[in-house]
Amino acid sequence: MSLRDLLKDKLPQEKLSFLPKGFEVIGDIAIINIPQSLDNEKYLIAEALASHRRDVGVILRKTDKLKGEKRVGGFEFLLGNRTSTVHRENNCIFHVDLAEAYFSGKMYFERNRIVQTVNDGEDVLVLFCGVGPFLIPIWKMKNVNITGLDNNPAACALFKKNAEINRIEANILLADANSVPYLFKKPFDRIVMPTPYGQDHSLTLCRTILKPEGIVHFYTFKKDFEIPHFKRLLEENGWQIEFYRKCGGVAPRVDRYVFDLLKQ
Ligand SMILES: C[S@@+](CC[C@H](N)C(=O)[O-])C[C@H]1O[C@@H](n2cnc3c(N)ncnc32)[C@H](O)[C@@H]1O
Repeated sequence: MSLRDLLKDKLPQEKLSFLPKGFEVIGDIAIINIPQSLDNEKYLIAEALASHRRDVGVILRKTDKLKGEKRVGGFEFLLGNRTSTVHRENNCIFHVDLAEAYFSGKMYFERNRIVQTVNDGEDVLVLFCGVGPFLIPIWKMKNVNITGLDNNPAACALFKKNAEINRIEANILLADANSVPYLFKKPFDRIVMPTPYGQDHSLTLCRTILKPEGIVHFYTFKKDFEIPHFKRLLEENGWQIEFYRKCGGVAPRVDRYVFDLLKQ
C-alpha cells in the first residue's frame, strides 16, 4: 500500500500530492524523504507508516543527501532513536549502521546477478566494499579467493562482524582505492566496483591490477545522453563492453549504470 493510500483520509488533497512515492526499509528501519512542505505532518506520516509496517521499529527522515567519502546521509528520528539494524539479503545477514557506513538494499538484484557471473577458482577484488553486501554472497556461493577494500574504518569494522556471523573468510583492507596499483602483487581475475560518485578514475587504476581478459563490474552515475560518449571512451581505452544496463535512479535524470567490461 502506498503512503498516499495510507494517508488519503488524514491529509487534504494538496498535501497528498507532496508525499513521496515510496520509502526504503533496511532491517527494521524505514527511511523516508519527507519534503519541507510536509514538515507539520511528519509525525502523522510516520505513525501511518508504522501502523502499516509492523516490522518497522525505527523511522528516519532523510535530511541530507549522501555526502563525503563515507557516502552517508543525515537523518531526523521520527520513531525510535537508533541508526543500526540487521538486514537480510541474498541469504546473508548484514549488521549496518546508516549513520556510519553506506548501505542500501536497492542493489540486491545486482549483487545476486554478480554472484551468478563469478566462476569458482577466481581471485576477486571488491573495491568500495562497504559492509560486505557484494562480497559476502560471492564467498558463500562460489569457491574463490576474495578481498574487500574500503577507506571507512566503521564500514570495515561492520564488514568484519558480518564476515564472522556469515562464517566467511575474506581479506579486508582499510585503504584508499587510489593506492590499489601499489597494494597488490598478484593481479585479479575479476574486480567489482560499486564506485562512489566522482571516483570514476578508479577504473583506470584497476586496469593495472587486472589480468588480461579479466572482468570488471563497473558502477557509475550517468545521464542518458552521456552514455554513447562514455561507451566510446571505454572502447578507446581497451575495454570490451560485455553487458550494460541502468540499475537505479539516483537523482532527477541521473541513473546508476553497471558496465561489465572485459580487459582487452
Ligand atoms: C557507494 S558505497 C558502496 C558500498 C557497498 N559496496 C554497497 O553496495 O553497499 C561506496 C563505498 O566506498 C567507500 N569509499 C569512498 N571513497 C573511497 C576511496 N577513495 N577508497 C576506498 N573506499 C572508498 C565508502 O566508504 C563506501 O563504503
